[in-house]
Amino acid sequence: MAVLIVEPHDGYATWLANALSGLTDRVIRAADPDEAMAAVAAEGREVLAAIFGPSLGDRDALALAGALQQGTPDVSVLLIRRQESGELIRQALKVGIKDILSSASDENAVRTAAAKAIEIARVLRGRLGGGAPTSDPGEGRSPGRVVTVFSSKGGCGKTFLSTNLAVALSRSGAEVALVDLDLHFGDVAIMLHLFPSHTIYDAAQSPGLDALTLKSFLTRHDSGIWTLVAPTEPTVADTINPGTIGSILKLLRSAFDYVVIDTPPAFSEPVLGAFDESDWLVMLATLDVPSIKNLKLTLQTMELLHFPKNRIRVVVNRADSKVGLRLPDVEKLLSSSVDATIPSSRSVPLSVNKGSPIMLEEPKGPVAESIRRIAALVVESQPAGRTKKQRRSLFARS
Ligand SMILES: Nc1ncnc2c1ncn2[C@@H]1O[C@H](COP(=O)(O)OP(=O)(O)OP(=O)(O)O)[C@@H](O)[C@H]1O
Ligand SMILES: [Mg+2]
Repeated sequence: MAVLIVEPHDGYATWLANALSGLTDRVIRAADPDEAMAAVAAEGREVLAAIFGPSLGDRDALALAGALQQGTPDVSVLLIRRQESGELIRQALKVGIKDILSSASDENAVRTAAAKAIEIARVLRGRLGGGAPTSDPGEGRSPGRVVTVFSSKGGCGKTFLSTNLAVALSRSGAEVALVDLDLHFGDVAIMLHLFPSHTIYDAAQSPGLDALTLKSFLTRHDSGIWTLVAPTEPTVADTINPGTIGSILKLLRSAFDYVVIDTPPAFSEPVLGAFDESDWLVMLATLDVPSIKNLKLTLQTMELLHFPKNRIRVVVNRADSKVGLRLPDVEKLLSSSVDATIPSSRSVPLSVNKGSPIMLEEPKGPVAESIRRIAALVVESQPAGRTKKQRRSLFARS
């Protein structure tokens, strides 16, 4: 695999190539858009990512990104600019550019962004070709609904939302499992003040896992929900075979009305496994430009992965923050509507620090109300013909 560097200035191109060392087998250099197009044509699918350096003009860079998007949409493009503006970000999003970095970025920042771009390209490569499209909900599936809460940017409230969404769904009497797929840094257990004796690691290690055995690995929360928590040691996470995640989720959905999944802020293999099993994707963002930019790119990536748009719900957290961006701006930027919002509230960090869901702490407050509305989005769209009675429950509520 190779990364293409498009940069007229020799010195900077060399610096970039050094920054990428170890990330890719080969670096291909092009001085202008023509050379770049020729290189991509000659290398075929070898090129996973392209980095446009700061000396390539804005107009050339956008045109080249547009041409690549047309011909080879699975090549991730990264743009390095001396100056960026809101307008440039908008234009860049339109032509599918995955990230924009400042030319003042150090080697580490370039490496991290390039690694992420390569990861996205790999994902798209694996899926665009032979990957089976996600099947329709209801088609040959067991009854549970799987809801994944995702955002490719960290810290926007995924764990807070997924824990509370699980509790909200269980309030109407449904049986709910909550899975922490943030295998390295998961904090569902902390947010719910749980002391689990088993984690998803035990489930993944268990040969021929069945629903009963899986039950023994779940930890019950006072609210009535069942959790499958992340390993306590991040190093243990690396030993989990991502292939087992899909079977764990299938077993859970066969036994629960809802399976809510919390995720890390990355398109990791377990997260892709969760997407495959998901009936609903709740995409979360906050009211700042980097967060919205990430959400836009994520929505584009989901489109490339053929995840049906009508099964995605966009939620803006801390939506009343007075930070300049307004919801109509966000909808324009996303070319998509925002389905629900959660207000900012001091009660959220209070409940998080206390380790008790806000659905229980302040069930009548505006935050709880907004989470009930998100739960309703998922419940109302339940396909007809599925009743709880058809399913034998292994998890009797006590
Ligand atoms: N609506 C809100 N009002 C006030 N604070 C909030 C709100 N939502 C989230 N927070 C705060 O933001 C912090 C981050 O939330 P959370 O841990 O759920 O994010 P995350 O997306 O799971 O992060 P990571 O990507 O690291 O897993 C929490 O400490 C929480 O208190
Ligand atoms: Mg989290």
